[in-house]
Amino acid sequence: MLELRGVTAGYGSHTVLRDVNLVVPDNAVVALLGPNGAGKTTLLRVASGLLRPSAGRILVDGVDASGWPPHRLSQAGVCHVPEGRGIFRGLSVKDNIRLQAGGHPRSPGQASGDLPLDPIPAVAEAFPRLGERLAQRAGTMSGGEQQMLALARAYVAGAKTVLLDEVSMGLAPKVIDEIFEYLHRLAAQGAALLLVEQYVARALELADFVYILNKGRVQFVGESDELGEEQILASYLGV
Ligand SMILES: Nc1ncnc2c1ncn2[C@@H]1O[C@H](COP(=O)(O)OP(=O)(O)OP(=O)(O)O)[C@@H](O)[C@H]1O
Ligand SMILES: [Mg+2]
Repeated sequence: MLELRGVTAGYGSHTVLRDVNLVVPDNAVVALLGPNGAGKTTLLRVASGLLRPSAGRILVDGVDASGWPPHRLSQAGVCHVPEGRGIFRGLSVKDNIRLQAGGHPRSPGQASGDLPLDPIPAVAEAFPRLGERLAQRAGTMSGGEQQMLALARAYVAGAKTVLLDEVSMGLAPKVIDEIFEYLHRLAAQGAALLLVEQYVARALELADFVYILNKGRVQFVGESDELGEEQILASYLGV
């Protein structure tokens, strides 16, 4: 379980998040919605250790992880798929997958102590399009294929909690369908997801819980079926 307690954070003297409390329970999908500039990316950066909060705490399975560097949070199972993908464009798909696997080549749900999965066939099975392009330089793939490669990291690292920042951004509807199928599968395998997404309806379909962030504060928190699209729209418009 990943938890933010009373988090205040920002950039220099510019405070973005104010006293934010957020919980991503094990095996749950949490949608984080809100207008542009609300602080969603900033919140994911705090949760993955990239940005240190000026107040408040981050807890992983009840352990205080405040001040942990990103690699330590990643070892604890927190995987951040940032805006803009974060893949090695000059390397082949295969080498990207090998690097992603790092020292933790297990799939979600696989008990520790089992033999490590070979990450390449596992990714090729999850994303057949990547399987066909193992030797291709990552930077020459289409935007959707590059996003799939970025998402594959959560799979091969055996992430427990995956932070996803607008992974559907700029992609064609058919590719977005594939990406959401993959997210469903990741969730079905037991990973918890914290999903920042501009396609509200798609996010709600997948989510168990919803947070709406507005001007750096949590404006709504509840189960996704408690929330109508009209209510969301109202929050976005600041009503
Ligand atoms: N590196 C930075 N330095 C200074 N200010 C920043 C930095 N990154 C973001 N901000 C500011 O912090 C605020 C929140 O930005 P953030 O990117 O977290 O919003 P967001 O909810 O992800 O928005 P969007 O929906 O547009 O992605 C904005 O006012 C933004 O200008
Ligand atoms: Mg953002």
